[in-house]
Amino acid sequence: MSNDLPLNYDVQKIRDDFPILSTQMNGKPLVFLDSAASSQKPLAVIHAISHYYQFQHANVHRGVYQLSQTATDLFESSRKKVKTFIGAEKEHEIIFTRGATESINLVASSFGQRFIGEKDTLIVSGLEHHSNLVPWQMLAKAKKANLKIIPVLDSGELDMEAYERLLDESVKIVAVNHVSNSLGTINPLAQIIELAHKVGAAVLVDGAQSAPHMKIDVVALDADFYVFSSHKVYGPTGIGVLYGKEKWLEEMPPYHGGGEMIDTVSYSDFTVNSLPFKFEAGTPNIADAIGLEAALEYVENIGQNRIGQYENQLLSYATDKMQEIKGLKIYGTAKNKASVLSFLVDGTHPYDLGALLDKQGVAVRTGHHCTQPLMDRFGIPGTVRASFGLYTSYEEIDTLVNALQKALTLLR
Ligand code: ALA
Repeated sequence: MSNDLPLNYDVQKIRDDFPILSTQMNGKPLVFLDSAASSQKPLAVIHAISHYYQFQHANVHRGVYQLSQTATDLFESSRKKVKTFIGAEKEHEIIFTRGATESINLVASSFGQRFIGEKDTLIVSGLEHHSNLVPWQMLAKAKKANLKIIPVLDSGELDMEAYERLLDESVKIVAVNHVSNSLGTINPLAQIIELAHKVGAAVLVDGAQSAPHMKIDVVALDADFYVFSSHKVYGPTGIGVLYGKEKWLEEMPPYHGGGEMIDTVSYSDFTVNSLPFKFEAGTPNIADAIGLEAALEYVENIGQNRIGQYENQLLSYATDKMQEIKGLKIYGTAKNKASVLSFLVDGTHPYDLGALLDKQGVAVRTGHHCTQPLMDRFGIPGTVRASFGLYTSYEEIDTLVNALQKALTLLR
């Protein structure tokens, strides 16, 4: 247990807001260390969704009646909250999607249709989740474009010299995560974006693993697109965000056809609605947008910078303790890292370790973490990954380390 608790950060008080954290798993208090996969939800979010369904539900943007107007106001209020949360300038640059994956697919499909041609180059980093790789592979195949990968150094950092060498006038888009879900590396976005812009390429940032952990400012970053999922930032599943600069979104064709995205329709043709509705066909996920607003408000009330500082101290405490375990190797040793600890222990398989930790109430993710090419790069089948959130306590790190020691005595 650290004596160096930062910033009057009352983690116990925060934990009390998350009912699931007081439950038991396999007869032991739940130690939830899989927030990078999906974070738990505070009561504020659960109550906002429940209240909406009990008292405020109607379809949005369609009714003249009061209840529909109330639902519309709540839905649009969430868009305003997202805008300020990520530092965007205009509400209509915020598109609601089903999640980060759908946001990336939207850009790959729609930006791709409009701006990518044969022999153009797309660049993604070697650290990407499958969701920020496969859509670009699909696009490259469809358009006969070239897909190039920024190599990863042994530390889990990107090889920035190699990146510079990949850049030329044929590059139309660079897609890179802000924080690696497998290794925790925080990528040097400012530099990546500046270099891409010099050759006229747009940059899509996958912020799924950064939005929960740090203050985001898309305008300061000058990101062309920034995407994240609600469920990793303490909000509900099934909703996510695409931020895009107006200049791109205006030029891009719609992704899905249906109600809401049209202005006029005849039997032979249609005209397209204005932003953001052009990209929001069909009845949107109203309840979860409202839940997302509650989640972002919750995070803002604690303060993104305080959360980041707290989690950094937690990560460094956990890293020191884990390194004391004989035969344990940490994957991802970047200087700039966020709240993920990926590791393997000599002579053990990650699944066996994960299963034995689970028996002791400790929930971690094992496997390739949807980054198979990255695991191949390190020559490993996968890792055990402990990931932290704003509610993770120092005591939980101690429990992880003790549970790991116990698992190892059984396996060795
Ligand atoms: N992308 C999620 C993870 O890293 C599911 O676990």
